[in-house]
Amino acid sequence: MVSSSTMQQPPICHPTTTTRWWSKDSIAIVTGANKGIGYALVKRFAELGLTVVLTSRDQSRGLKAMDSLKSLGLDGNVCFCQLDISNKDSIRSFVSWFRSRFNAFDILVNNAAVCFNAMNENSMEHAESVVKTNYYGSKLFTQAILPFSRPSNSRILNISSRLGTLDKLKNAEMKAILENEEKLSEDRIDMVVGAFLKDVKDGSWEKQGWPKIWTDYSVSKLALNAYSRLLAKQYRGVVSVNCFCPGFTQTAMTDGQGKHSADDAAQMAATLALLLPSRLTTGKFYAGSTTRGMHSKL
Ligand SMILES: NC(=O)c1ccc[n+]([C@@H]2O[C@H](COP(=O)([O-])OP(=O)(O)OC[C@H]3O[C@@H](n4cnc5c(N)ncnc54)[C@H](OP(=O)(O)O)[C@@H]3O)[C@@H](O)[C@H]2O)c1
Repeated sequence: MVSSSTMQQPPICHPTTTTRWWSKDSIAIVTGANKGIGYALVKRFAELGLTVVLTSRDQSRGLKAMDSLKSLGLDGNVCFCQLDISNKDSIRSFVSWFRSRFNAFDILVNNAAVCFNAMNENSMEHAESVVKTNYYGSKLFTQAILPFSRPSNSRILNISSRLGTLDKLKNAEMKAILENEEKLSEDRIDMVVGAFLKDVKDGSWEKQGWPKIWTDYSVSKLALNAYSRLLAKQYRGVVSVNCFCPGFTQTAMTDGQGKHSADDAAQMAATLALLLPSRLTTGKFYAGSTTRGMHSKL
């Protein structure tokens, strides 16, 4: 369960040539990769010699990112396909494109997300869209591409946030639903999200114990964490499913503010996605931009 009671763990090691289990035949898919942490992660995977699928909801922004990789000499192992995770037709087209080119993927990084609030704002004007992209979009895309996961060693890394850990949720009824591991199901997670959107609609959301900061975004990540926990349980031994909070990172989402760069965050995300098969974890929530970061049970 993601909570504030995370434990300090021994440092995780960044990939080195001696810990390299992948090759250029290993395929990584990164959503929302035209900028920010997603773009930095594509760059990192390409530097490490994987084949990467760079996706972007906007064709021209995606192609611009490809140009930028080309100028770094890193486009050789990267291909581009448009993907809007909030659009079912776009997901369908992506899957059909992927099927025509690859047999399987080794790594899926669900990175794409939106947040419409500036740093000190907490408007719920776009709550539906935030939940639709960050939770439902990531979930629908995962479900559509999962049949292509390479058996036994594939990994899903969901880029999440500490803003969505369970200790931020003060609504006892909703918390009990998400904490009940035995009964946790997609329907129950969707029920929590539905209750939040209903509270937004009737204007009562501020009194219902939802997370205080960037509430809609935090609820979307709370749901993503819960879904990741469910998936990790369902696919134990088949696909590894972990979440990662990169911490306060300098990207468009934070208006360029943050404690470290997108490259730093991506370096850590790549390390987690590329854990040695013998050290591969599942159902974990990782946080921080350094190998001395924390992890806990999801
Ligand atoms: N920055 C931080 O401090 C921080 C902290 C914790 C967690 N995170 C998480 O880190 C991840 C990356 O965020 P970032 O900071 O790099 O933000 P960012 O620079 O705003 O990048 C977000 C990316 O997601 C894409 N995207 C948005 N909606 C999409 C959709 N429907 N389909 C496909 N792509 C979509 C954006 O595309 P467009 O360019 O078209 O908008 C962009 O490429 C997110 O999951 C975020 O929640 C960030």
